[in-house]
Amino acid sequence: MRPGGVHPLLAGRFSPYTFDPSAGVDDRTLDLLLEAARWAPSAGNSQPWGFLPVRPGEPEYERVVPRLAASSARWAMDASLLIVTFTRRYSDSSETLYSEFADYDLGQAVAHLTIQAQAMGLSSHQFRAFDLEALTKELDPDPGWAIVSMIALGKSSDAPPAVRARRSTAELRSAPWSTPS
Ligand SMILES: Cc1cc2nc3c(=O)[nH]c(=O)nc-3n(C[C@H](O)[C@H](O)[C@H](O)COP(=O)(O)O)c2cc1C
Repeated sequence: MRPGGVHPLLAGRFSPYTFDPSAGVDDRTLDLLLEAARWAPSAGNSQPWGFLPVRPGEPEYERVVPRLAASSARWAMDASLLIVTFTRRYSDSSETLYSEFADYDLGQAVAHLTIQAQAMGLSSHQFRAFDLEALTKELDPDPGWAIVSMIALGKSSDAPPAVRARRSTAELRSAPWSTPS
């Protein structure tokens, strides 16, 4: 089932399980992806996001790839680009809140980035299947910052899955708030 009526960039996006290992993402493309993320809205314009992009052959790639879970390594290692996403939840190590909306805002920036990728003919697959503790130890983010997810990007010739489970718009409109009795 394809999403009906919505913009083709949204309708055409899905998370593939194969990438073309011979493809690459050049610097200009990478810059555009980050530029798209940069223009996402955020609470108080706090922009509480950070991205570590790594490509095969780059030294930083070797810091990230060993921390992939077996389930994601199967397809993510063929991607042309992996991006580790970071959120700034706290101002510093004292755990004074930096932004109540840090993870929410990071998600919006990632949505911008992935739809920009789609517009440039690149597929993306976000994932959490990696060793968060080991990757945090390796990358040692600044106080207040945390790793949230990773994104695999590249060329894919996967067809969209035949079945794409989604809750209905009626369901979105009916839960979870209470109604006056
Ligand atoms: C924060 C986040 C974490 C995810 N983690 C994984 C993961 O660990 N492994 C995986 O195969 N897919 C993962 N996904 C992809 C989702 O399973 C996928 O987006 C969802 O099933 C809807 O499919 P679609 O993207 O093809 O529309 C993740 C997606 C998000 C946004």
